[in-house]
Amino acid sequence: MKNDMFYDIDLNRVPQHIAIIMDGNGRWAKSRFLPRVAGHKAGVETIRTVLRECKRLNVKHVTLYAFSTENWKRPKMEVDALMNLLSTYLINEVAALHEENVKLTSIGDISELPSKCVMELEKAIKLTENNTGCNLNLALNYGGRRDIKDALVKIIKDVKDNKINLDKIDENTISNHLSTKDIPDPDLVIRTSGEERLSNFLLWEVAYSEFYFTNVHWPDFDEKELQKALFTYQNRDRRFGSIK
Ligand code: FPP
Repeated sequence: MKNDMFYDIDLNRVPQHIAIIMDGNGRWAKSRFLPRVAGHKAGVETIRTVLRECKRLNVKHVTLYAFSTENWKRPKMEVDALMNLLSTYLINEVAALHEENVKLTSIGDISELPSKCVMELEKAIKLTENNTGCNLNLALNYGGRRDIKDALVKIIKDVKDNKINLDKIDENTISNHLSTKDIPDPDLVIRTSGEERLSNFLLWEVAYSEFYFTNVHWPDFDEKELQKALFTYQNRDRRFGSIK
């Protein structure tokens, strides 16, 4: 493994959960005089590369922001192309993911996706549900504010049904009603392509995450770039509000 290391990463301290905003596909394509969809296609290749490297480095959870609740505002042609890429990815990849013990999960309201995507996703989730290796978590039709709103509605309903006592509500109650309830909060959030904002991603969960921004567009992000992000993360001083 040492030969494949571009940075001096401590393999005992890799983040448990990396969340990634895969940005810059459109600009990558434009700079090559290609249609935007070509950028998304290249972005799928990067997903393969990054997931392989995360598995190799023993990152337990990888959440990818693949489609936000706001992405529906894009031209129909682009939305359709993204949905096609998603279903094709699942069809082509699910057997290999299963073979490699990857557990596929999703967050966000997948019921609003095209039925082909829903079908392939449900199949993939079911097939891999007992896998114990890396968890690939796809954020699809996901919005952090919507997720918090949905959690609140569930909590209010549970209070009304006397399942939760109002006085007992704490921060864990909220965490446990979010769609991310089964996975730890991200240790590291990566956003590619030079934008430095959250864009409605995991708003509650990133309270103490480290952020890593890079100018590299998602299709150009590779093993070396991932290692650079991990190296930077390992050189941060995480104090969680406390002191040393
Ligand atoms: C952001 O780049 C990227 C997206 C909104 C979509 C990401 C989706 C994929 C890589 C493929 C589909 C997903 C899976 C899981 C197979 P942008 O279009 O906003 O780029 P720009 O800011 O340069 O225009």
